[in-house]
Amino acid sequence: MTQHLNIVDHPLVQHKLTIMREKSTSTAVFRQLLREISQLLAYEITRELPMTSKPIETPVEEMDAPVLAGKKLALISILRAGNGLLDGVLELIPSARVGFVGLYRDEKTLQPVQYYYKVPMSLEDRVVIAVDPMLATGNSSAAAVQLLKDSGATDIRFLCLLAAPEGVARMKEAHPDVPIVTAALDKRLNDQGYIVPGLGDAGDRMFGTK
Ligand code: URA
Repeated sequence: MTQHLNIVDHPLVQHKLTIMREKSTSTAVFRQLLREISQLLAYEITRELPMTSKPIETPVEEMDAPVLAGKKLALISILRAGNGLLDGVLELIPSARVGFVGLYRDEKTLQPVQYYYKVPMSLEDRVVIAVDPMLATGNSSAAAVQLLKDSGATDIRFLCLLAAPEGVARMKEAHPDVPIVTAALDKRLNDQGYIVPGLGDAGDRMFGTK
């Protein structure tokens, strides 16, 4: 993948995102739309997967037909909101291995601290797709990507629903080799670290918490 930031401006993605942004949208509808959008974003992030071909026989004749080159995929959910994106992507790529990264922000240092980390073996042989709906400050995303690199991953892509310019800049500075696919690049972060206009707290909206 060549571009660092790929904004998927497909009409279906944009329409679904608008409904998700609306504060009156219910948890059930939000969750369903997130599942649908994640599949459309996954379609885009997998566009340049390596291909090969194999001989097959159709009912009419033999042909050399395109297939994925067999590089295995790993999906990494950045907890907890990443799980909302994970479900939809996994429906599209059911054979992918799955990992989880849990980080919280230390109140004193404001730095991300790891509380859970479990990823598939041999990340160096896999296309790794890290998923987190909101790329806000980018601090936890950059830290999660660093953990994946420390585990050997070399081909990492980052999938999110919404990005703030601050988060994109942070990722570009820390991981210029990691392309980002998102549905929208919003205006900025507010004082509480929320993306503006955003959609609020993605975890709360998808799990119905407050
Ligand atoms: N995380 C969220 O869930 N929402 C934001 O706006 C920023 C970070």
